[in-house]
Amino acid sequence: MAVLLKVEHLSVRYGPVLALDDVSLAVERGSIFAVLGPNGAGKTSLLRAIAGVVRPAGGDIWFEGTLVTPVAPHLRARMGLVYQPETRELFGGLTVARNIALGAEGQGRSLDPARLKEILSYFPGLEGKLERRPNTMSGGEQQMVALARSMAAEPKLLAIDEPSLGLSPQLVSRLFGVLRDIARKAGLTILLAEQNARMAMKIADEALFLRTGRTALAGPVAALQSRDLSSYYLGASG
Ligand SMILES: Nc1ncnc2c1ncn2[C@@H]1O[C@H](COP(=O)(O)OP(=O)(O)O)[C@@H](O)[C@H]1O
Ligand SMILES: [Mg+2]
Repeated sequence: MAVLLKVEHLSVRYGPVLALDDVSLAVERGSIFAVLGPNGAGKTSLLRAIAGVVRPAGGDIWFEGTLVTPVAPHLRARMGLVYQPETRELFGGLTVARNIALGAEGQGRSLDPARLKEILSYFPGLEGKLERRPNTMSGGEQQMVALARSMAAEPKLLAIDEPSLGLSPQLVSRLFGVLRDIARKAGLTILLAEQNARMAMKIADEALFLRTGRTALAGPVAALQSRDLSSYYLGASG
């Protein structure tokens, strides 16, 4: 499998705070790569640097073999590097259909009905809610709408930040099932930042644990699963 995204020696600094310190990784096309670690570990900073919304203090980012470190965020998105922030950023007062269409329109395209139907096939139940407004929907439904909108942006790589936030374990399980389907059936590559390491590792091929901005542990999930990972989940030392 070919590498879709390569990150080399990436650092992110907010004033005196070194949020990400010399992190390198490679994401294979078609895989799910989980970035794990407790609150404050640097997961969001890593995704923000990859998306281009924060300028790294050092290091480089390659997407499909192109150096994108100097490329503006909206141009990265047009190349297929789509970022879904933790805040979801839905328009609560617009319909679900409009919110999803905005994913395509943000890339200067329109969303044709056949493609909408195809996207909706990954989200059971959403088709009947196209005229609803996200601000009347549950957190789980909102996350599905956000994910459908991200798909309408036609990502090659979807960098998604803490999609499980605020969802019940049952909904997290359903949402991660959808993410796995998207990766397997739609051929999408997913970079998943999650505090919920146990759940994320159920669908991920590779995982990287951050601890205070540094890589604490990384490798194929199949190889990591045999180890006691509790200290990495919690960010304790040792
Ligand atoms: N805008 C910011 N200004 C200053 N410090 C920040 C900012 N964003 C994040 N940080 C700090 O950077 C570190 C990493 O944060 P973040 O990347 O949000 O981690 P995570 O997503 O794993 O919770 C934390 O110490 C956090 O307090
Ligand atoms: Mg975060």
